[in-house]
Amino acid sequence: MHHNDAGGFTKPGPRQYPHQWNWDSAVIALGLSHFDLPRALTEIRSLIGGQWRDGMIPHVVYHDRPSDYFPDPAFWQTENSLHAPAVATSGITQPPLLATVIRQIHARTPIPEFVREVYPALLRWHRWLLTARDADGSGLVCIIHPWESGTDDSPRWLNPLADITPTDVPVFKRGDTTHVAAAERPHQADYERFIHLIDVFRRNRYEPAALLARSPFLAQDVLLNSILYRAGEDLRALAVELDEPTAEMDGWLERMRVNFDARFWDEDRGLYLDYNMRRAAPIPVNTALTFMPLFAGLPDQQKAARLINEHWLNPIEYAPDSRVRYWITTTSQTEPTWDARRYWRGPVWIILNWLLADGLRRYGFDDLADALRRDSLELMARSGFREYYDPRDGAGCGSTDFSWSAALALEFLIDLE
Ligand code: GLC
Repeated sequence: MHHNDAGGFTKPGPRQYPHQWNWDSAVIALGLSHFDLPRALTEIRSLIGGQWRDGMIPHVVYHDRPSDYFPDPAFWQTENSLHAPAVATSGITQPPLLATVIRQIHARTPIPEFVREVYPALLRWHRWLLTARDADGSGLVCIIHPWESGTDDSPRWLNPLADITPTDVPVFKRGDTTHVAAAERPHQADYERFIHLIDVFRRNRYEPAALLARSPFLAQDVLLNSILYRAGEDLRALAVELDEPTAEMDGWLERMRVNFDARFWDEDRGLYLDYNMRRAAPIPVNTALTFMPLFAGLPDQQKAARLINEHWLNPIEYAPDSRVRYWITTTSQTEPTWDARRYWRGPVWIILNWLLADGLRRYGFDDLADALRRDSLELMARSGFREYYDPRDGAGCGSTDFSWSAALALEFLIDLE
Protein backbone atom coordinates (compact mmCIF):
# COMPACT_ATOMS: atom_id res chain seq x y z
CA MET A 1 0.00 0.00 0.00
CA HIS A 2 2.90 2.34 0.73
CA HIS A 3 4.42 1.41 -2.60
CA ASN A 4 1.21 2.42 -4.41
CA ASP A 5 0.74 5.62 -2.41
CA ALA A 6 0.41 8.48 -4.89
CA GLY A 7 0.18 11.26 -2.32
CA GLY A 8 -3.43 11.76 -1.24
CA PHE A 9 -4.66 8.46 -2.68
CA THR A 10 -3.51 4.91 -3.30
CA LYS A 11 -3.33 3.36 -6.76
CA PRO A 12 -5.02 -0.09 -6.93
CA GLY A 13 -1.95 -1.40 -8.76
CA PRO A 14 1.36 0.22 -9.68
CA ARG A 15 1.06 0.25 -13.48
CA GLN A 16 -2.30 -1.15 -14.59
CA TYR A 17 -4.39 1.21 -12.42
CA PRO A 18 -2.58 4.54 -11.90
CA HIS A 19 -5.52 6.59 -10.52
CA GLN A 20 -8.03 6.34 -7.65
CA TRP A 21 -10.78 3.71 -7.88
CA ASN A 22 -13.91 3.95 -5.78
CA TRP A 23 -14.41 0.64 -3.98
CA ASP A 24 -10.69 -0.12 -4.04
CA SER A 25 -10.12 3.06 -2.04
CA ALA A 26 -12.73 2.10 0.53
CA VAL A 27 -11.01 -1.24 1.11
CA ILE A 28 -7.56 0.34 1.06
CA ALA A 29 -8.66 2.86 3.72
CA LEU A 30 -9.75 -0.06 5.89
CA GLY A 31 -6.31 -1.62 5.51
CA LEU A 32 -4.48 1.64 6.12
CA SER A 33 -6.53 2.35 9.26
CA HIS A 34 -4.64 -0.43 11.06
CA PHE A 35 -1.32 1.36 10.95
CA ASP A 36 -1.90 4.92 9.73
CA LEU A 37 -5.36 6.21 10.57
CA PRO A 38 -4.78 9.80 9.35
CA ARG A 39 -3.66 8.46 5.96
CA ALA A 40 -6.75 6.23 5.82
CA LEU A 41 -8.97 9.27 6.36
CA THR A 42 -7.07 11.18 3.66
CA GLU A 43 -7.78 8.29 1.28
CA ILE A 44 -11.50 8.67 1.94
CA ARG A 45 -11.41 12.47 1.68
CA SER A 46 -9.76 12.35 -1.72
CA LEU A 47 -12.33 9.89 -3.02
CA ILE A 48 -15.14 12.09 -1.78
CA GLY A 49 -13.37 15.04 -3.41
CA GLY A 50 -14.44 13.51 -6.74
CA GLN A 51 -18.14 13.57 -5.82
CA TRP A 52 -20.41 14.99 -8.51
CA ARG A 53 -22.75 17.89 -7.81
CA ASP A 54 -25.73 15.56 -8.03
CA GLY A 55 -24.25 13.19 -5.45
CA MET A 56 -22.61 10.44 -7.54
CA ILE A 57 -19.22 9.28 -6.32
CA PRO A 58 -17.52 8.19 -9.55
CA HIS A 59 -15.73 4.95 -10.20
CA VAL A 60 -12.41 6.65 -11.01
CA VAL A 61 -10.95 9.95 -9.80
CA TYR A 62 -7.97 10.86 -11.98
CA HIS A 63 -6.31 13.52 -9.80
CA ASP A 64 -4.65 15.19 -12.78
CA ARG A 65 -2.00 12.52 -13.09
CA PRO A 66 -0.84 11.85 -16.61
CA SER A 67 -0.77 8.12 -17.39
CA ASP A 68 -1.19 5.58 -20.17
CA TYR A 69 -4.53 4.47 -18.69
CA PHE A 70 -7.47 4.23 -21.04
CA PRO A 71 -10.16 5.58 -20.92
CA ASP A 72 -8.53 8.85 -19.92
CA PRO A 73 -10.40 11.99 -18.79
CA ALA A 74 -10.39 13.38 -22.34
CA PHE A 75 -12.31 10.32 -23.47
CA TRP A 76 -15.04 10.62 -20.82
CA GLN A 77 -15.73 14.29 -21.65
CA THR A 78 -17.40 14.77 -18.30
CA GLU A 79 -16.79 18.51 -18.56
CA ASN A 80 -19.90 18.59 -20.77
CA SER A 81 -22.04 17.48 -17.84
CA LEU A 82 -23.77 19.99 -15.57
CA HIS A 83 -23.02 17.72 -12.62
CA ALA A 84 -19.31 16.98 -12.95
CA PRO A 85 -16.93 18.32 -10.31
CA ALA A 86 -13.81 20.40 -10.99
CA VAL A 87 -11.49 17.39 -10.68
CA ALA A 88 -11.29 14.91 -13.59
CA THR A 89 -13.32 11.74 -13.04
CA SER A 90 -15.07 8.98 -14.95
CA GLY A 91 -18.81 9.37 -15.57
CA ILE A 92 -20.12 6.20 -13.88
CA THR A 93 -20.10 4.81 -10.34
CA GLN A 94 -19.07 1.59 -8.51
CA PRO A 95 -20.35 -0.56 -5.59
CA PRO A 96 -21.00 1.75 -2.60
CA LEU A 97 -18.89 0.02 0.03
CA LEU A 98 -17.71 3.25 1.66
CA ALA A 99 -20.33 3.67 4.41
CA THR A 100 -19.70 0.10 5.59
CA VAL A 101 -15.95 0.68 5.74
CA ILE A 102 -16.29 3.98 7.60
CA ARG A 103 -18.57 2.39 10.16
CA GLN A 104 -16.06 -0.44 10.62
CA ILE A 105 -13.10 1.90 11.10
CA HIS A 106 -15.16 3.99 13.53
CA ALA A 107 -16.17 0.88 15.50
CA ARG A 108 -12.49 0.01 16.05
CA THR A 109 -11.16 3.49 16.71
CA PRO A 110 -13.86 6.08 17.27
CA ILE A 111 -13.57 8.98 14.81
CA PRO A 112 -16.79 10.93 15.55
CA GLU A 113 -15.61 14.19 14.02
CA PHE A 114 -14.61 12.50 10.80
CA VAL A 115 -17.94 10.68 10.65
CA ARG A 116 -19.75 14.00 11.04
CA GLU A 117 -17.59 15.52 8.31
CA VAL A 118 -18.23 12.84 5.68
CA TYR A 119 -21.79 11.85 6.58
CA PRO A 120 -23.48 14.42 4.25
CA ALA A 121 -21.45 13.17 1.27
CA LEU A 122 -22.38 9.55 2.00
CA LEU A 123 -26.04 10.45 2.36
CA ARG A 124 -26.01 12.35 -0.93
CA TRP A 125 -24.40 9.39 -2.73
CA HIS A 126 -26.94 6.90 -1.42
CA ARG A 127 -29.80 9.30 -2.23
CA TRP A 128 -28.46 9.69 -5.78
CA LEU A 129 -28.29 5.90 -6.24
CA LEU A 130 -31.79 5.45 -4.91
CA THR A 131 -33.31 8.15 -7.09
CA ALA A 132 -31.21 8.72 -10.22
CA ARG A 133 -30.75 4.95 -10.62
CA ASP A 134 -34.13 3.61 -9.55
CA ALA A 135 -35.80 2.86 -12.87
CA ASP A 136 -38.96 1.16 -11.62
CA GLY A 137 -39.69 2.60 -8.17
CA SER A 138 -38.64 -0.68 -6.54
CA GLY A 139 -35.81 0.78 -4.48
CA LEU A 140 -33.49 -1.55 -6.40
CA VAL A 141 -30.76 0.29 -8.19
CA CYS A 142 -29.72 -0.09 -11.85
CA ILE A 143 -26.30 -0.10 -13.40
CA ILE A 144 -25.75 1.28 -16.88
CA HIS A 145 -22.32 -0.23 -17.55
CA PRO A 146 -20.70 -3.55 -16.54
CA TRP A 147 -17.85 -1.57 -14.93
CA GLU A 148 -20.33 -0.19 -12.40
CA SER A 149 -20.73 -3.72 -11.03
CA GLY A 150 -17.03 -3.90 -10.18
CA THR A 151 -17.00 -7.25 -12.03
CA ASP A 152 -16.20 -5.82 -15.44
CA ASP A 153 -16.31 -8.85 -17.75
CA SER A 154 -18.47 -11.14 -15.64
CA PRO A 155 -20.47 -13.57 -17.81
CA ARG A 156 -23.53 -12.12 -16.08
CA TRP A 157 -23.35 -9.26 -18.57
CA LEU A 158 -22.88 -11.25 -21.76
CA ASN A 159 -26.58 -11.55 -22.58
CA PRO A 160 -27.35 -7.86 -22.20
CA LEU A 161 -24.14 -6.99 -24.07
CA ALA A 162 -25.04 -9.34 -26.92
CA ASP A 163 -28.19 -7.30 -27.53
CA ILE A 164 -26.10 -4.21 -28.16
CA THR A 165 -24.81 -3.40 -31.63
CA PRO A 166 -21.91 -1.02 -31.23
CA THR A 167 -22.29 1.65 -33.89
CA ASP A 168 -19.80 4.37 -34.81
CA VAL A 169 -17.45 3.19 -32.06
CA PRO A 170 -14.99 6.03 -31.54
CA VAL A 171 -11.39 5.25 -32.33
CA PHE A 172 -9.66 4.01 -29.19
CA LYS A 173 -6.57 2.16 -28.11
CA ARG A 174 -6.89 -0.24 -25.19
CA GLY A 175 -4.47 0.33 -22.35
CA ASP A 176 -5.38 -2.70 -20.25
CA THR A 177 -3.42 -5.21 -22.31
CA THR A 178 -0.17 -3.25 -22.11
CA HIS A 179 0.81 -4.44 -18.62
CA VAL A 180 -1.25 -7.66 -18.38
CA ALA A 181 -1.50 -10.61 -20.80
CA ALA A 182 -4.51 -10.32 -23.14
CA ALA A 183 -5.62 -13.84 -22.14
CA GLU A 184 -6.24 -12.53 -18.62
CA ARG A 185 -8.26 -9.51 -19.80
CA PRO A 186 -11.70 -9.03 -21.44
CA HIS A 187 -12.30 -10.08 -25.04
CA GLN A 188 -12.14 -7.39 -27.73
CA ALA A 189 -15.85 -7.70 -28.64
CA ASP A 190 -16.82 -6.97 -25.02
CA TYR A 191 -14.41 -4.09 -24.88
CA GLU A 192 -15.95 -2.45 -27.95
CA ARG A 193 -19.30 -2.53 -26.24
CA PHE A 194 -17.83 -1.02 -23.07
CA ILE A 195 -16.55 1.88 -25.15
CA HIS A 196 -19.74 2.25 -27.16
CA LEU A 197 -21.67 2.64 -23.90
CA ILE A 198 -19.40 5.43 -22.72
CA ASP A 199 -19.91 7.12 -26.06
CA VAL A 200 -23.70 6.99 -25.55
CA PHE A 201 -23.32 8.46 -22.06
CA ARG A 202 -21.12 11.32 -23.14
CA ARG A 203 -23.44 12.16 -26.03
CA ASN A 204 -26.18 12.47 -23.39
CA ARG A 205 -23.94 14.61 -21.20
CA TYR A 206 -24.35 12.20 -18.28
CA GLU A 207 -27.88 13.42 -17.60
CA PRO A 208 -29.17 10.66 -15.26
CA ALA A 209 -32.76 10.60 -16.60
CA ALA A 210 -31.52 10.42 -20.20
CA LEU A 211 -29.14 7.58 -19.32
CA LEU A 212 -31.88 5.55 -17.64
CA ALA A 213 -34.04 6.07 -20.69
CA ARG A 214 -31.39 5.53 -23.37
CA SER A 215 -28.52 3.41 -22.09
CA PRO A 216 -28.59 0.23 -24.20
CA PHE A 217 -27.36 -1.56 -21.07
CA LEU A 218 -29.60 -1.37 -18.00
CA ALA A 219 -29.48 -4.05 -15.32
CA GLN A 220 -30.31 -4.58 -11.67
CA ASP A 221 -27.20 -6.14 -10.17
CA VAL A 222 -27.37 -8.53 -7.21
CA LEU A 223 -23.86 -7.53 -6.09
CA LEU A 224 -24.38 -3.77 -6.11
CA ASN A 225 -27.80 -3.96 -4.51
CA SER A 226 -26.53 -6.29 -1.76
CA ILE A 227 -23.68 -3.91 -0.97
CA LEU A 228 -26.03 -0.93 -1.09
CA TYR A 229 -28.46 -2.56 1.34
CA ARG A 230 -25.69 -3.39 3.81
CA ALA A 231 -24.15 0.08 3.41
CA GLY A 232 -27.61 1.59 3.90
CA GLU A 233 -27.87 -0.16 7.26
CA ASP A 234 -24.41 1.08 8.18
CA LEU A 235 -25.24 4.62 7.10
CA ARG A 236 -28.38 4.45 9.21
CA ALA A 237 -26.35 3.38 12.25
CA LEU A 238 -24.05 6.37 11.72
CA ALA A 239 -27.10 8.67 11.41
CA VAL A 240 -28.46 7.41 14.74
CA GLU A 241 -25.14 8.17 16.40
CA LEU A 242 -25.07 11.64 14.91
CA ASP A 243 -28.66 12.24 15.91
CA GLU A 244 -29.60 12.76 12.27
CA PRO A 245 -33.05 11.83 10.90
CA THR A 246 -33.43 8.25 9.63
CA ALA A 247 -36.93 8.17 8.14
CA GLU A 248 -35.68 8.53 4.54
CA MET A 249 -33.22 5.66 4.99
CA ASP A 250 -35.82 3.50 6.68
CA GLY A 251 -37.95 3.97 3.59
CA TRP A 252 -35.09 2.91 1.28
CA LEU A 253 -34.27 -0.16 3.32
CA GLU A 254 -37.89 -1.21 3.60
CA ARG A 255 -38.47 -0.97 -0.16
CA MET A 256 -35.32 -2.91 -0.92
CA ARG A 257 -36.23 -5.60 1.60
CA VAL A 258 -39.73 -6.00 0.18
CA ASN A 259 -38.61 -6.18 -3.46
CA PHE A 260 -35.21 -7.88 -3.34
CA ASP A 261 -36.23 -11.55 -3.36
CA ALA A 262 -39.19 -10.98 -5.66
CA ARG A 263 -36.85 -9.56 -8.23
CA PHE A 264 -33.68 -11.64 -7.83
CA TRP A 265 -34.51 -15.02 -6.28
CA ASP A 266 -35.07 -17.97 -8.64
CA GLU A 267 -37.00 -20.51 -6.62
CA ASP A 268 -36.50 -23.35 -9.10
CA ARG A 269 -32.73 -23.04 -9.28
CA GLY A 270 -32.20 -21.78 -5.73
CA LEU A 271 -30.05 -18.90 -6.98
CA TYR A 272 -30.10 -15.11 -6.91
CA LEU A 273 -29.98 -13.89 -10.54
CA ASP A 274 -29.32 -10.42 -11.95
CA TYR A 275 -32.08 -8.77 -13.97
CA ASN A 276 -31.88 -7.34 -17.47
CA MET A 277 -34.18 -4.30 -17.48
CA ARG A 278 -33.99 -3.96 -21.26
CA ARG A 279 -35.49 -7.40 -21.77
CA ALA A 280 -37.50 -7.39 -18.55
CA ALA A 281 -36.00 -10.81 -17.77
CA PRO A 282 -33.62 -12.45 -15.31
CA ILE A 283 -30.09 -13.17 -16.52
CA PRO A 284 -29.74 -16.95 -16.13
CA VAL A 285 -26.02 -17.07 -15.38
CA ASN A 286 -24.64 -18.78 -12.28
CA THR A 287 -21.77 -16.77 -10.74
CA ALA A 288 -20.42 -16.42 -7.20
CA LEU A 289 -22.19 -13.06 -6.96
CA THR A 290 -25.30 -15.13 -6.25
CA PHE A 291 -23.97 -15.46 -2.67
CA MET A 292 -23.63 -11.70 -2.10
CA PRO A 293 -27.10 -11.27 -0.52
CA LEU A 294 -25.60 -13.11 2.49
CA PHE A 295 -23.41 -10.02 3.01
CA ALA A 296 -26.59 -7.95 3.18
CA GLY A 297 -28.28 -10.40 5.55
CA LEU A 298 -31.26 -10.52 3.18
CA PRO A 299 -31.95 -14.24 2.54
CA ASP A 300 -33.97 -16.13 5.13
CA GLN A 301 -32.34 -19.22 6.68
CA GLN A 302 -33.99 -21.54 4.21
CA LYS A 303 -32.71 -19.70 1.16
CA ALA A 304 -29.27 -19.36 2.71
CA ALA A 305 -29.22 -23.13 3.29
CA ARG A 306 -30.17 -23.78 -0.34
CA LEU A 307 -27.44 -21.44 -1.61
CA ILE A 308 -24.88 -23.25 0.49
CA ASN A 309 -26.00 -26.86 0.13
CA GLU A 310 -26.98 -26.83 -3.51
CA HIS A 311 -24.29 -24.51 -4.87
CA TRP A 312 -21.47 -23.44 -2.53
CA LEU A 313 -20.73 -27.03 -1.52
CA ASN A 314 -21.38 -28.49 -4.95
CA PRO A 315 -18.07 -29.60 -6.53
CA ILE A 316 -19.54 -29.32 -10.00
CA GLU A 317 -20.12 -25.62 -9.38
CA TYR A 318 -17.97 -24.01 -6.65
CA ALA A 319 -16.49 -26.43 -4.11
CA PRO A 320 -12.86 -27.38 -4.63
CA ASP A 321 -12.54 -30.69 -6.46
CA SER A 322 -10.09 -32.27 -8.84
CA ARG A 323 -10.18 -29.26 -11.14
CA VAL A 324 -10.30 -26.38 -8.68
CA ARG A 325 -8.26 -26.24 -5.50
CA TYR A 326 -9.06 -22.84 -3.99
CA TRP A 327 -12.21 -21.07 -2.79
CA ILE A 328 -14.00 -19.41 -4.51
CA THR A 329 -14.05 -19.33 -8.29
CA THR A 330 -15.93 -16.22 -9.52
CA THR A 331 -18.07 -18.18 -11.93
CA SER A 332 -19.66 -21.59 -11.57
CA GLN A 333 -17.64 -24.25 -13.36
CA THR A 334 -20.87 -25.33 -15.04
CA GLU A 335 -20.96 -22.11 -17.09
CA PRO A 336 -19.59 -22.60 -20.63
CA THR A 337 -17.79 -19.25 -20.25
CA TRP A 338 -15.84 -20.45 -17.19
CA ASP A 339 -12.20 -19.49 -17.73
CA ALA A 340 -9.66 -20.11 -14.95
CA ARG A 341 -7.41 -17.15 -15.73
CA ARG A 342 -9.62 -14.59 -17.39
CA TYR A 343 -10.49 -11.73 -15.05
CA TRP A 344 -14.03 -12.21 -13.59
CA ARG A 345 -14.71 -15.41 -15.53
CA GLY A 346 -13.19 -17.86 -13.06
CA PRO A 347 -10.25 -16.57 -10.99
CA VAL A 348 -10.35 -16.12 -7.21
CA TRP A 349 -10.55 -12.45 -6.11
CA ILE A 350 -9.56 -11.58 -2.55
CA ILE A 351 -12.25 -8.89 -2.31
CA LEU A 352 -14.96 -11.41 -3.06
CA ASN A 353 -13.56 -13.89 -0.55
CA TRP A 354 -13.59 -11.21 2.11
CA LEU A 355 -17.14 -10.00 1.43
CA LEU A 356 -18.43 -13.55 1.27
CA ALA A 357 -16.61 -14.62 4.44
CA ASP A 358 -18.45 -11.83 6.23
CA GLY A 359 -21.75 -12.98 4.73
CA LEU A 360 -21.13 -16.61 5.71
CA ARG A 361 -20.42 -15.60 9.31
CA ARG A 362 -23.69 -13.67 9.49
CA TYR A 363 -25.45 -16.97 8.84
CA GLY A 364 -23.32 -19.10 11.13
CA PHE A 365 -21.32 -20.85 8.39
CA ASP A 366 -18.10 -20.16 10.29
CA ASP A 367 -16.20 -23.19 8.97
CA LEU A 368 -16.81 -22.11 5.40
CA ALA A 369 -15.76 -18.55 6.22
CA ASP A 370 -12.58 -19.92 7.83
CA ALA A 371 -11.83 -21.86 4.65
CA LEU A 372 -12.15 -18.68 2.58
CA ARG A 373 -9.75 -16.91 4.91
CA ARG A 374 -7.28 -19.79 4.88
CA ASP A 375 -7.30 -20.00 1.08
CA SER A 376 -6.99 -16.22 0.68
CA LEU A 377 -3.96 -16.08 2.96
CA GLU A 378 -2.42 -19.14 1.33
CA LEU A 379 -2.85 -17.66 -2.16
CA MET A 380 -1.24 -14.38 -1.12
CA ALA A 381 1.60 -16.12 0.73
CA ARG A 382 2.21 -18.32 -2.28
CA SER A 383 1.81 -15.89 -5.18
CA GLY A 384 2.01 -12.40 -3.65
CA PHE A 385 -0.56 -9.61 -3.59
CA ARG A 386 -1.96 -10.19 -7.04
CA GLU A 387 -5.16 -8.87 -8.57
CA TYR A 388 -6.65 -12.39 -8.96
CA TYR A 389 -5.58 -16.02 -8.85
CA ASP A 390 -6.05 -19.14 -10.92
CA PRO A 391 -8.32 -21.32 -8.74
CA ARG A 392 -6.66 -24.53 -10.01
CA ASP A 393 -3.04 -23.96 -9.05
CA GLY A 394 -3.10 -20.61 -7.24
CA ALA A 395 -0.98 -18.86 -9.87
CA GLY A 396 -1.14 -15.07 -9.58
CA CYS A 397 -2.80 -13.18 -12.45
CA GLY A 398 -3.47 -9.62 -13.55
CA SER A 399 -1.78 -6.73 -11.82
CA THR A 400 1.07 -7.36 -9.38
CA ASP A 401 1.43 -5.57 -5.99
CA PHE A 402 -2.32 -5.10 -5.74
CA SER A 403 -3.42 -2.73 -3.01
CA TRP A 404 -6.73 -4.16 -1.84
CA SER A 405 -5.31 -7.67 -1.68
CA ALA A 406 -2.69 -6.30 0.74
CA ALA A 407 -5.36 -4.42 2.71
CA LEU A 408 -7.47 -7.54 3.01
CA ALA A 409 -4.51 -9.69 4.04
CA LEU A 410 -4.39 -7.43 7.10
CA GLU A 411 -8.11 -7.85 7.67
CA PHE A 412 -7.89 -11.63 7.45
CA LEU A 413 -4.83 -11.75 9.72
CA ILE A 414 -6.32 -9.48 12.37
CA ASP A 415 -9.44 -11.58 12.23
CA LEU A 416 -7.29 -14.58 13.21
CA GLU A 417 -5.96 -12.96 16.39
C1 GLC B 1 -11.01 -3.66 -12.33
C2 GLC B 1 -12.00 -4.36 -11.43
C3 GLC B 1 -12.67 -3.35 -10.52
C4 GLC B 1 -11.61 -2.58 -9.78
C5 GLC B 1 -10.58 -1.96 -10.74
C6 GLC B 1 -9.40 -1.35 -10.03
O1 GLC B 1 -11.63 -2.77 -13.19
O2 GLC B 1 -12.96 -5.06 -12.19
O3 GLC B 1 -13.54 -3.98 -9.64
O4 GLC B 1 -12.20 -1.57 -9.04
O5 GLC B 1 -10.08 -2.95 -11.57
O6 GLC B 1 -8.79 -2.30 -9.20
